[in-house]
Amino acid sequence: MMKQEQMTVVRHKPIAKNIYELTLSGHLVEEMNAPGQFVHVKVTSQAAPLLRRPLSLCRIDQNARECTLIYRKEGIGTTLLSEKRPGETIDVLGPLGNGFPLDAVEKGQRALLVGGGIGVPPLYELAKQLVKKGVIVTSVLGFQTKEVVFYEREFAEFGETYIATVDGSHGTKGFVTDVIHERAISFDVLYACGPKPMLKALEQMFPDKEVYLSLEERMGCGIGACFACVCRVPGSETAYKKVCSDGPVFKAGEVVL
Ligand SMILES: Cc1cc2nc3c(=O)[nH]c(=O)nc-3n(C[C@H](O)[C@H](O)[C@H](O)COP(=O)(O)OP(=O)(O)OC[C@H]3O[C@@H](n4cnc5c(N)ncnc54)[C@H](O)[C@@H]3O)c2cc1C
Ligand code: FES
Repeated sequence: MMKQEQMTVVRHKPIAKNIYELTLSGHLVEEMNAPGQFVHVKVTSQAAPLLRRPLSLCRIDQNARECTLIYRKEGIGTTLLSEKRPGETIDVLGPLGNGFPLDAVEKGQRALLVGGGIGVPPLYELAKQLVKKGVIVTSVLGFQTKEVVFYEREFAEFGETYIATVDGSHGTKGFVTDVIHERAISFDVLYACGPKPMLKALEQMFPDKEVYLSLEERMGCGIGACFACVCRVPGSETAYKKVCSDGPVFKAGEVVL
């Protein structure tokens, strides 16, 4: 159930260039269990910026009642967020949206997790829960350059992990699709989160496979009320889905990328 809470900053640190890891504690964590869901964060207690910022759940630790978000410092909102110190509180609404379906893959089957840049965080909790279920996980993570690579070691704890960088400064030079192709990685179900061109390439690469894609559309309310995040449904000029409440995870082919 979605709730709102002033969560307390427990830890907050940069882990790569302009990439921050933020751990929050609070009762809201009790509501969190689905990887791929997100929270909507009010970055300051001032009136502006008015809109909350959607950030994916990266780790959920029910025992410690803590959750971790990873974000890229980009515009005004995430810059303000990066100034929060341990002990301060942040207004958080969530958990929101529908996460990755864990029941799409069974114990002993293979899942391929593909993340692009700031699309990588929600795959961490997904990998953790899939491995706990007995699924064999392979991760392919793509970044622009070595400076912005994060969580390589953390993903490696869950299974084979490959890195691609566009400039070749770390891992394979090129895109995540190059790694999957070159290594002929086989899988039963594919889960991905990242930029639209990457999701589109994966959808086209595996038309006959079960593929789930998480979209990071611009949002207003985050709860299905404002229509800021709509995307079209294939074969119709009028039908649409809302990324915040119908997604952010969709089965490949469900929405137009
Ligand atoms: C479901 C979902 C999960 C996300 N998870 C993460 C995550 O785990 N880590 C992370 O770094 N980023 C994530 N994003 C993107 C993140 O929300 C934006 O980077 C962030 O809101 C930018 O805010 P800003 O104030 O710094 O930028 P500004 O450019 O000042 O933002 C202006 C407005 O545009 C929206 N916006 C800007 N860029 C994006 C974007 N790429 N996607 C959606 N809205 C955007 C903002 O929310 C805000 O309303 C996610 C987006 C969605 C929709
Ligand atoms: S963000 Fe308002 S309807 Fe999706």
